[in-house]
Amino acid sequence: MPKFSIQDVLPLPHTPVKIPRIGFGVYLSPPNQCVQSCLAALNTGYRHIDTAKLYGNEEAVGEAVRQSGLKRSDVFITTKIMKPEGNVETTLESLRTSVRRIGLGWVDLFLIHVPTSGPDGRKEMWEALEKLKNEGGAKNIGVSNFGVKHLEEIKGYSRTIPAVNQIELHPWLQQSEIVDYCVKEGIVVEAYAPIVRARKNDDPDVVSIAEAHSVTPAQVLIRWSLQKGFVPLPKSDNPERIKCNADVYDFELSDEEMEKLNEKALPGGEGAICPYLVNCP
Ligand SMILES: NC(=O)c1ccc[n+]([C@@H]2O[C@H](COP(=O)([O-])OP(=O)(O)OC[C@H]3O[C@@H](n4cnc5c(N)ncnc54)[C@H](OP(=O)(O)O)[C@@H]3O)[C@@H](O)[C@H]2O)c1
Repeated sequence: MPKFSIQDVLPLPHTPVKIPRIGFGVYLSPPNQCVQSCLAALNTGYRHIDTAKLYGNEEAVGEAVRQSGLKRSDVFITTKIMKPEGNVETTLESLRTSVRRIGLGWVDLFLIHVPTSGPDGRKEMWEALEKLKNEGGAKNIGVSNFGVKHLEEIKGYSRTIPAVNQIELHPWLQQSEIVDYCVKEGIVVEAYAPIVRARKNDDPDVVSIAEAHSVTPAQVLIRWSLQKGFVPLPKSDNPERIKCNADVYDFELSDEEMEKLNEKALPGGEGAICPYLVNCP
C-alpha cells in the first residue's frame, strides 16, 4: 500500500479541485470552542473542515481560518443545507447566507445535508446549489446521507454529478451498496462518525489491533477509513485528541487486521447513528 500523509488529496469528479484526504469535523462544537479547535486542527496540519448551517458554527470556522493566517486557497471548507426554503431563489438566498456567514469568499464544497425533503425538495436544493456554483459561491456541490435512488434521481434532471456523498461509515456500518455505487460513479465517499463517537473504543479487536501498533482505538478506526479509500472526518474539541487523530501515518493495518474490522459489519448496521437516512423516500 502506498504511504499516506496528512497532505494527501483526492481528485473530485469533473473539476481540477482536489479534496484533502482527512477532514476535521465540528458537529456539536460550540462557536467559541470551535474557533480554538479549528485553529488547533489547522496547526496540526488538517486542511479540510466540515461544518453545516445546522451546527451553528459556520462563522466560527471562517474566523479560525482567518486567524490561522493560512492562504484561503490552502484550506478546504465544506458546509451543508438542511432543507429547502420553498423555491429555488429563496433556497439560493439561504445558501448565499451560509457562504457570507463563513466569510471566506466561497466554500469549497456545499452539500445537501439529508435527503429527507422528498423529491421536490431535493430538486429545489440541487438546482439552487447549481446556481450557487455557477455564480462562484461554491467550487463543488454534493450530497450527504443519500442512497442510490436519491443519486439516480439527480441524474434524471441534472448533468452535474455530485462531487461527494458524505455518509456514516465505520466498521459497524459499512453501507456497501451505496459505497460501491459511489465508487462506480466517481463520487468521493466521505465518512462521518469515523470513530463511532468513541462508542467502540473498548471493542476487544480494536483494542488488540491498537496495542499491536502502540496507537489508540480512534487511530485504528481512522486508519481503517483511510485504507478503505474514504475521506474520514473525525471531530474533537480536545487539543490532544485533535493531534492524535491526525497522527495516523506511521503505521499500516495489515490485510488480516482490515479483515477483522470488516467483519464487524452487521445487517441493520449495529452502532449506526443515522441508519434510516439513506433509505428515506
Ligand atoms: N452529514 C451528516 O449527517 C453528519 C452526521 C454526523 C457527523 N457529521 C460530520 O462528521 C464529523 C464526525 O462525526 P461525529 O462528530 O458525529 O463523530 P466522531 O468524529 O466519530 O466522534 C466524535 C466524538 O468522539 C470523541 N473523540 C474524538 N477523538 C477521540 C479520541 N481520540 N479518543 C476518544 N474520543 C474521541 C469526541 O469528543 P471530544 O470532542 O471531547 O474529543 C466526540 O465526542 C462531524 O463532526 C461532522 O462534521 C456529518
